[in-house]
Parts: sequence; C-alpha cells; structure tokens
Amino acid sequence: MLILGIESSCDETGIALYDSAAGLLAHALHSQVAMHAEYGGVVPELASRDHIRRVVPLLREALAQSGRALAEVDAVAYTRGPGLSGALLVGCAFAEALALALDKPTIPVHHLEGHLLSPLLSRTPPTFPFVALLVSGGHTQLMRVTAVGEYELLGETLDDAAGEAFDKSAKLLGLPYPGGALLSQLAELGTSGVYQLPRPMQHSGDLNFSFSGLKTAVLTLVREQDEPLSEVFKADAARAFQEAIVEVLVKKSLKALKQTGLKQLVVAGGVGANRQLRAMLDDEARRKRFRVFYPELEFCTDNGAMIALAGCLRLQAGSPAKPAGAFAVQPRWPLMDISASGTQ
Ligand code: KG4
Ligand code: ZN
Repeated sequence: MLILGIESSCDETGIALYDSAAGLLAHALHSQVAMHAEYGGVVPELASRDHIRRVVPLLREALAQSGRALAEVDAVAYTRGPGLSGALLVGCAFAEALALALDKPTIPVHHLEGHLLSPLLSRTPPTFPFVALLVSGGHTQLMRVTAVGEYELLGETLDDAAGEAFDKSAKLLGLPYPGGALLSQLAELGTSGVYQLPRPMQHSGDLNFSFSGLKTAVLTLVREQDEPLSEVFKADAARAFQEAIVEVLVKKSLKALKQTGLKQLVVAGGVGANRQLRAMLDDEARRKRFRVFYPELEFCTDNGAMIALAGCLRLQAGSPAKPAGAFAVQPRWPLMDISASGTQ
C-alpha cells in the first residue's frame, strides 16, 4: 500500500510517500521560516499563499525521489487540523482534488497524531505502549499511547506551549523568530546558576505544565539590565531559562513513567530537538532504567512523512479511508476527540 502524505498546518509544506512494506520512500519539505522571520512570527495569509506555491513542486520532487508514479498511490493522507485554517485548507483542497482525480480515497490526519507516531519512522522504533512527551510550538502534552488511535491525555500545559515559551523568551533576548533553536545554541555558551528562574508547577502533584510565568521571569530579568543587552547576559539568561524548562519537562516525564508503570518514553515535536533536554533524559534513562526514543531530527519538526505514516497506520488499524471530494478542515481539534477507529 502506497500512501501520499501532505502536511500544511502551519509554516512548513511537507510531502512524503510511505509504503506499508518498504517504509518511507521519499519526503520533501519547504520551511517558510525565512519568509516569516521578517515579521517576527507566522503571518497566516502569507503561509497559505506559500503552501499553494510549493505543494506541486514538492510533490514532483518526492515522486522523483521515490521512483514511483502518482498512479501507484493507494490513498492520500493530509493534515486536517489542528493548525491555521487557511494553511490547512490548501493541503486539504489539494489532497482531496488529487485523490478525486486519481479515483483514490483520502485519510484526514490529526497533526498531533502525526507527531506522536513519528518515532516509528526511526530505525529503532519503540513498541506500544509508551509514554509520549509532545513538545511543539503549539502544544505541550504527556500522553499514554497504547496503540494507533488509543491515546490518553495524562497532562498538558495550562497556558503557553514549551516551544512558544522558547520562542517568546528568545524574542525578549533579542533573537530573531523562531528563536527556540537559537536560544538553545546561546544557552550552551552561558554559565549555569548565574540567574535563578522558577520551575513552574514542578510540585503541582499532577502532570500539567505552565510556562507563561517563566517567560515573565525572563522579561523581569531583561528589564533589570541596561540596554543594549550584553552577550554575556543573553547567554547566561538563555542558560537559566533552558535549564528551568528542561528540568520541568524531565521531572514531569519521569512522573508520567512512574504513574503509568511504562518503561518507554517517546519525545516528539520541535522542542524534542533540544540538546540539553535529550542529554538530561538520556542520563535519567540510564539511571532509572527506561528507554527514551526521539524521532530523527528532520522528523521532530513538521513534515509530510509523519502524516503519510499516520495515514498508513490508521488504514492498517482498520480505520476506513473516505471517498475523495467532500472535505473540511478542523483548525481547533483536541486529540482526545479522535476515536480509535477513525479520525472523524
Ligand atoms: O513541532 P514544531 O515544528 O511545530 C509545531 O507543530 O508547533 O515545533 C516548532 C517549535 C518552535 O517553537 C521552535 O522554536 C522549537 O520547536 N524548537 C526548539 C528547538 N528546535 C526547535 N526549541 C528548543 N530547542 C531547540 N533546539
Ligand atoms: Zn507540529
């Protein structure tokens, strides 16, 4: 079974071909980061227009890489939500029209399900069940993943997502959008312990998070400084911020493992690329004897491969594909609303 996957929920256009027997055959990606950087954040209308420009060339690129023909595609999977409505509509309309022309069914996929299942693309995948820490620009959740479509929310952020906190704090330190990865590079140059920042909700007794106070603490630190901010201050503040957020993410992940009795942790989403988070989790995994899995770096952030994979696993798990043609997107869509048997 050959599945074409299309991702367009935010500022990345991703196209991939996934074969149920041979695995991932090809994936092509265009990131709009450089275009939005000028505005300090994603401009939804520009995002939609750029998806329109990229989707056909990316499809051609992925097909050429895969050595397969469009006519061989058995079903078209695409991100139905959550995300920016205009951006989602581009991928959705393209996927539905293409499937209609090919006389093939479609599989609308939940973006977060794509992230959750993305570690299964790696050479050493986890086995079900596992705990997933989903840390992206829009979401921060701990889940128990029992099987494809069987997800239990264990805890989530009450305000900002982890990636959002990284990006907002980076902005406060004068770094360009999206500052998460840049802040983490800067943190490596900083000295630990120069500034003390709070570890929000660390002792809340549950598995929820809150990061908006941490961002406010960075703002307070910045306001105490003379302008322009010195490079040393920026590095030390970045270090303090990163240590605080990583410590909370690690502590809550350990608590989730303890609470569920599971021995496998999967880290998905853009913040999963963070080196300090990975180092600390690897260290804890050695000491506490659990296994931790990360998607390959290229599959941590948004991509079409995870959507093609999720679509394929859904079909294999018995979810019905739907006839192409009629469609809608779901910009707001809690993951818990999808059932084990289908995405509707
Ligand atoms: O999963 P993703 O591509 O998009 C969403 O679905 O939201 O995640 C993007 C987020 C951004 O907030 C970005 O700043 C953050 O992941 N990010 C990082 C790192 N690389 C990307 N945050 C911390 N450290 C990194 N190395
Ligand atoms: Zn994402």
